[in-house]
Amino acid sequence: MRHPRKMILGAVMRGTGSHVAGWRHPSVDRRMLAGASKLDHYLRIAQFAEAGKMHFVFTADSPAITYQALPALMARAAQDYYLDPISLLSALAARTDRIGLVGSASTSYSDPYTIARQFASLDHLSHGRASWNVVTTFETAAAGNFGRRTHIAPDERYARAGEFLGLVRRLWDTWEDDAFTRDPASGQFIDPAKLHLVEYHSAHFDLEGGLNVERPPQGHPVIFVAASSEEGRALAAAEADALFTAQPEMEAGRAFYADVKRRVVQHGRSPESLAVLLGAMIIVAPTDAEAQDRHAALRDAIDVDFGVAYLSSLVGADLSGLSLDDPLPDALRQEPRWSRVPLVMDIAQRRNMTFRKIALHYADQYGHQFLVGSPTTIADALQEMFEAPIADGFLLRSPYYFGGLEDIVTQVVPELQRRGLFRTEYAAGTLRDNLGLDRPCHPAALPSMQPAQAALHG
Ligand SMILES: Cc1cc2nc3c(=O)[nH]c(=O)nc-3n(C[C@H](O)[C@H](O)[C@H](O)COP(=O)(O)O)c2cc1C
Repeated sequence: MRHPRKMILGAVMRGTGSHVAGWRHPSVDRRMLAGASKLDHYLRIAQFAEAGKMHFVFTADSPAITYQALPALMARAAQDYYLDPISLLSALAARTDRIGLVGSASTSYSDPYTIARQFASLDHLSHGRASWNVVTTFETAAAGNFGRRTHIAPDERYARAGEFLGLVRRLWDTWEDDAFTRDPASGQFIDPAKLHLVEYHSAHFDLEGGLNVERPPQGHPVIFVAASSEEGRALAAAEADALFTAQPEMEAGRAFYADVKRRVVQHGRSPESLAVLLGAMIIVAPTDAEAQDRHAALRDAIDVDFGVAYLSSLVGADLSGLSLDDPLPDALRQEPRWSRVPLVMDIAQRRNMTFRKIALHYADQYGHQFLVGSPTTIADALQEMFEAPIADGFLLRSPYYFGGLEDIVTQVVPELQRRGLFRTEYAAGTLRDNLGLDRPCHPAALPSMQPAQAALHG
């Protein structure tokens, strides 16, 4: 069966699997846990993803100890420890050939020059496979690591993020593509006429200068934005090539997808130029029953105390005093610190869940799509979302390593390929080529259009 559209697939890379109880799963080898800060661990994940012809691997990041304020939870939560993304992705660039390399970096706790230089360098080192997942960091504990007393408020974070991204693009355009002439005969190494220094002053940034790195192979590394809020969608529609989001329910997902595509068109872009990618946990086994058993083993390892603490970390308040047999108080919707709070509240109310139930549910599923079943059952669910459409692709979360990811690559991917929904080969070239994205031209190469518009849309 041939499908005009093909799914975009990426795999999450973490020290321990993406399920909170994944690290304790009987199939997990303790040596793997000890290796969670070593290159080999991530290389194996990247090699599985590359064997599955996936578009990219993704490493999240947050410049803080996520549960430092909740020691009881911190003692039992294995997931939120991250190697510096640029260090990790650069090491992987040297040991992989085709897989795209997506890493998060915060616009709230870094500066445009450093980020522009890091991702431009990664793009050169990887022959055009670099991608920056733009996050504004919801983690309040990050503030202290950067000399701040308080965390930056959401609207301020997004105002800063928009300018930040624009500046990074201008820095990537410091040099025209052919500025580095390297001509020993004439002795000219660079054509100074092809240098475009940046001068920028605003309430957030003062920058006068330029990048000392050649224009990246992709022109601009691929831009992902991870968000679901109004501000996050607005930023993505204006600036991004892909949007990471958590959409666990079909109807809300349909509305979200349509809204995002409408915003993209309002920016004079084609709807395909921004891919909507849903986070999706995949627990697969040869039969539905076996997969359900695997899920049950993970779910049953979560107790209420852990669930309560995990939900408390979500909302940023200690909920341990609330009655477990009552619904969550609606007051939790006020000034949510990130869009996952109203999303989880909606799930609880739509499914009539008590605090106990939603606490266990959230710890188990984290607000993302959660698919359990045989390869056919999983492929059916992914196909339904792809054709609805509520997604152009998925960020696949494995419950544990390496068996959880291997099962996805050896069981689910072939089924999607058999249905013609996913490719069977890499396209030649860069990550942009593999995502079907144009390479942004240098503004100086475009006569008439507004430089900024031209740079963004190639
Ligand atoms: C798939 C996915 C990946 C994310 N990765 C990160 C990350 O690496 N670091 C981070 O601070 N936030 C990450 N986030 C959270 C978002 O950046 C953002 O804070 C969150 O979606 C809430 O933003 P919003 O309130 O604007 O929607 C991720 C979210 C999603 C859906």
